[in-house]
Amino acid sequence: MRKEISFVVNGADVTVLVGSHERLVDVLRGPLGLTGTKEGCGAGECGACTVIVEGRAVNSCLYPAFEIEGRRVLTIEGLGTGNTLGPIQKAFVDAGAVQCGFCTPGMIMSTKALLDATPDPSDAEIRGALVGNLCRCTGYVQIVEAVRRAASAVKEAK
Ligand code: FES
Ligand code: FES
Repeated sequence: MRKEISFVVNGADVTVLVGSHERLVDVLRGPLGLTGTKEGCGAGECGACTVIVEGRAVNSCLYPAFEIEGRRVLTIEGLGTGNTLGPIQKAFVDAGAVQCGFCTPGMIMSTKALLDATPDPSDAEIRGALVGNLCRCTGYVQIVEAVRRAASAVKEAK
């Protein structure tokens, strides 16, 4: 079965035709061309596909596309402006938290959800927020540092 669904992505209204078997990651990377969201495991284990739905970080590989009807989605493309990185993206680059980069969009979206809810997180809260995001490259030290830097940058920008 296929049906038309409408939702908001990065502040823009979109309508796409999707099949009942499709997942949110398929719709984002397919018809919407938002390939910043990565698919790693496809099973809810790696966090590479993390996006924010209604303020909450979710695995888009587990999210049935039909359920996104009427909801608001934020993807990595929604964080910067044109060619300018947003403060969280910049913090990840500055802290050396990006190596192969495959985990990075998901890490950044989990960080965004964390900082929206908890602007001044402890290291334990940072590690807790990123527990579903796996990185095989960095050892996480730079990533935690990036989130600390991002928290400062976001506060300064306010
Ligand atoms: S691709 Fe979605 S959690 Fe791994
Ligand atoms: S930077 Fe390579 S998986 Fe995280």
